Amino acid sequence: MSKFVIVDHPLIQHKLTLIRDKEASTKVFREVTNEIAMLMVYEVTRDLPLENCQIETPLVTTTQKRLAGKKLAIVPILRAGLGMVDGIINLIPAARVGHIGMYRDEETLEAIEYFAKLPQDIEERQVFVVDPMLATGGSAIAALNQLTQKYKVLPENITFVCLVAAPEGVMALQSAHPDVDIYAAALDEKLNENGYIIPGLGDAGDRIFGTK
Ligand code: PRP
Ligand code: URA
Repeated sequence: MSKFVIVDHPLIQHKLTLIRDKEASTKVFREVTNEIAMLMVYEVTRDLPLENCQIETPLVTTTQKRLAGKKLAIVPILRAGLGMVDGIINLIPAARVGHIGMYRDEETLEAIEYFAKLPQDIEERQVFVVDPMLATGGSAIAALNQLTQKYKVLPENITFVCLVAAPEGVMALQSAHPDVDIYAAALDEKLNENGYIIPGLGDAGDRIFGTK
């Protein structure tokens, strides 16, 4: 079974509280979502492999470490996942970015795909799929189904990164994709009858883009 990691650094907890507040403006919500995503990168990339390399400092020749292994790709689930991309790119600027568009049918809560555009060599990359919300898990599962089945990305090369997870979504995602690690800034209490995370932060896409 894969890892489920809660990245609960004090700065992350503080910033998450700022955007849970319903009075947070679109500007604040957008900025702070990116800041949390950036802080999460430290933990999410902790196990990236390193290799030795020789360099010359101004004083001596020395053997040091640099990143090795697979190249990286970030795949936001549209729309709300876009709100995490800039923060992550700040720290890993060479990463390629692919997009998968999913929306939840408001009645059935079923995830419906409407867009996919991924780097050509996505199956050779370490892939970070990002979406602020893991609620029922439907959107994440559908996006990972697409990546593993159509684009042949190995599940062990995928990490799912969200801000707020519901227990129901974590269980569903782990059971559908047991080899995919999940990182969240918080594990909330439950889903309400409309599939929203409680206490949560509301509709992340609408709050990032100011569409409601
Ligand atoms: C939100 C969120 C996730 C999904 C989570 O997207 O960004 O993608 O809901 O819910 P689930 O785990 O129950 O699938 P939404 O469908 O509201 O689309 P949007 O990002 O375009 O607003
Ligand atoms: N999608 C959101 O944006 N928020 C939730 O709480 C659940 C799904």
